[in-house]
Amino acid sequence: MSSLVTGSVMDSATITKPHEQLAQALAPEMVAVNTLITQRMASEHAPRIPQVTTHLVGAGGKRLRPMLTLAAAKLCGYTGEHHIRLAATVEFIHTATLLHDDVVDESGQRRGRPTANLLWDNKSSVLVGDYLFSRSFQLMVETGSLRVLDILANASATIAEGEVLQLTAASDLDTDEGVYLQIVRGKTAALFSAATQVGGVIAAAPEDQIAALYDYGDALGIAFQIADDLLDYQGDAAAIGKNVGDDFRERKLTLPVIKAVAQATPDERSFWERTIGKGRQEDGDLGHALSLMNKYGTLEATRIDAVQWADKAKSKLVVLPDHPIRTMLNDLADYVVARLT
Ligand code: IPE
Ligand code: IPE
Ligand code: MG
Ligand code: MG
Repeated sequence: MSSLVTGSVMDSATITKPHEQLAQALAPEMVAVNTLITQRMASEHAPRIPQVTTHLVGAGGKRLRPMLTLAAAKLCGYTGEHHIRLAATVEFIHTATLLHDDVVDESGQRRGRPTANLLWDNKSSVLVGDYLFSRSFQLMVETGSLRVLDILANASATIAEGEVLQLTAASDLDTDEGVYLQIVRGKTAALFSAATQVGGVIAAAPEDQIAALYDYGDALGIAFQIADDLLDYQGDAAAIGKNVGDDFRERKLTLPVIKAVAQATPDERSFWERTIGKGRQEDGDLGHALSLMNKYGTLEATRIDAVQWADKAKSKLVVLPDHPIRTMLNDLADYVVARLT
């Protein structure tokens, strides 16, 4: 993980994961992106800002979204420098949403470290998140492209809408797969699709390629979030760097639960009403929820949905130039659903 952040050269023999292959293919650009991130996350006037940003950014993260921007630009033959700014922009937007998200979700662990809201407080997380959002706007303005501003401003609004929709859908057992898709598309896929689209836009790629990049990012983001929601029930906390069971505790209707609620017997429905609907959770409830999901095979059904979104993402790549990076983007789609972190 730290090698991704520092951009140090990795031994190609040990690289098997597509995002590591991308990191290697884009190593010089990622060094520039990380340098820019470090510069712009500082603040001369408010010491709390570098404390929080160093804590979160220093913990690494997969840097998937900035790599998507760099990859899209490179795939479309871009030779300028604005893609570096755009990649840093999308990572700043992502980091800002993580700070806010951990407050909203009352999460205690992120990237294997205690969350900023736990180490400092909610106020610091909200305000430093706002600072990073604002820094992202400054960075994107530097590209001078109104179209890029339009895409990223829209994505920021859509992410916030997705989070707010999730807030009102949480604990509502009537939340169905359609609402879930709307939430996921907003809170997660909007930034993936913007990340890939702006790479194509800055490279002045043909419109059909820009549209394909958008569609790829959209489907990839949906697959990614479905996988994240699976990991919340099936993952290993040490590996994912976040606590398992957070979604159940937060009474979120994610896909494995939605599918189990849809098939529930009256007794099982009462269980979901009590734990998710009313939030009256007791020891052993998470285990029982898991046994119901296993009874109906909803974790496996959820995984299959994620695979279908990944397949859709891959199908969009055909109109893009034949290039090693296209192969990596193809493999990345498979990886996001098979990932363990
Ligand atoms: C976390 O995204 C937020 C979700 C959309 C699930 P990542 O898993 O990409 O987070 P980092 O940047 O690698 O920590
Ligand atoms: C993350 O959603 C989406 C955004 C950060 C906007 P989650 O709440 O599902 O992600 P994790 O599990 O905390 O990373
Ligand atoms: Mg969260
Ligand atoms: Mg959340």
